[in-house]
Amino acid sequence: MTSAASTDPAGPRPLLNRRLAEFGTTIFAEMSALALSTGSINLGQGFPDTDGPEEVREAAVRALRDGRGNQYPPGPGVPELRNAVAAHQHRRYRLDFDPDTEVLVTAGATEAIAAALLALVEPGDEVIALEPYYDSYAASIAMAGGTRVPVTLRPGPAPGGAQADAPGAPLSFRLDLDELRDAVTDRTRLLLLNTPHNPTGTVLTRAELAEIARLAVERDLLVVTDEVYEYLVYDDAEHIPLATFPGMRERTVTIGSAGKTFAFTGWKVGWVTASAPLVTAVRSAKQFLTYVASGPFQYAAAEALALPQDYFDGLRRTLQEGRDLLAAGLTAAGFEVYRPAGTYFITTDIRPLGESDGFAFCRALPERAGVVAIPNAVFYDHREEGAPFVRFAFCKRPEVIQEAATRLAKLR
Ligand SMILES: Cc1ncc(COP(=O)(O)O)c(C=O)c1O
Repeated sequence: MTSAASTDPAGPRPLLNRRLAEFGTTIFAEMSALALSTGSINLGQGFPDTDGPEEVREAAVRALRDGRGNQYPPGPGVPELRNAVAAHQHRRYRLDFDPDTEVLVTAGATEAIAAALLALVEPGDEVIALEPYYDSYAASIAMAGGTRVPVTLRPGPAPGGAQADAPGAPLSFRLDLDELRDAVTDRTRLLLLNTPHNPTGTVLTRAELAEIARLAVERDLLVVTDEVYEYLVYDDAEHIPLATFPGMRERTVTIGSAGKTFAFTGWKVGWVTASAPLVTAVRSAKQFLTYVASGPFQYAAAEALALPQDYFDGLRRTLQEGRDLLAAGLTAAGFEVYRPAGTYFITTDIRPLGESDGFAFCRALPERAGVVAIPNAVFYDHREEGAPFVRFAFCKRPEVIQEAATRLAKLR
């Protein structure tokens, strides 16, 4: 194919536009292909290897059979799901949203993130995001023409009282609030937060969130907060939505997803809750991305949100067991483990294994041990900051995690 500028002495113009030039094929595609070709256990991409609750799957089948959602659903989402989201936010967080004007259903959290950024960011606006970050953030900021300003989470003692500074205390990735404050300029439009945080497993504490809220109010910033792992918090960690803090409801776009909470990542049902003006803005962009998606699955997600508390407790228990199993296996194999307080990912440091380049390590790992992982450097602008870190997913059956641990023990 010839491009329009093929007579240019500088050579043909690349097909991919400049804003997206840095976003080639994702590492996930490369690593998943490697998993297949080597018969490795894929702990790279974060999807569960068992489907969510049977009754939720049946609800989707029923909706399909009953002809609900087989044609374009309403732009903002089916009323059943909008009502269920509003009821859930009230029940769990005492946050009140009008299901007609303050809830928007999206094609997964991914579309919600893209639509929010396209709606709220002008070219040249700065968007602060916590690095390492979920890979769609950088691409969505770029598509909106914004400038991303990373604030790097760095290893430190996990929060947790008196023993936090003791030798051998669990490590986690922490936000430096002074660095966040210093990153805000007159051009900052928006903070893009993620808690519980992928890939580090950090759950921002009440004190950290209160400080972020104060900063957002003081500097009049909008906040988009990706809370898709809201139910996946362990031990005594607590997920607190940023929108519950003083002054935040009117400036915060909160994003949720059925993919993580109900283990149906292929359904792509997500949602936004925010004030009516913010939802109206996000909807303006969203309507020209997918317009609508996942019709019958929206009805099933509505039923899922009304599942009894037992389901959510069971999910958390099962995943916590998976975390503990994988963390023990990784520690035994010689990795330094950052014990996640949330999500279904564990970040490790490979330096105790005599390695320092996560990319090279992950490319070799399938051959060496029959396991696939992701180099955290792909989630960084400052790649060198992420070089020695590698991420493993534990949303897998216990026997799969156990087998991965046995294979990884060969690295010793
Ligand atoms: C932090 C974060 N946000 C959003 C998503 C995507 O969610 P969805 O599948 O609902 O688009 C993921 C998926 O891995 C994620 O880790």
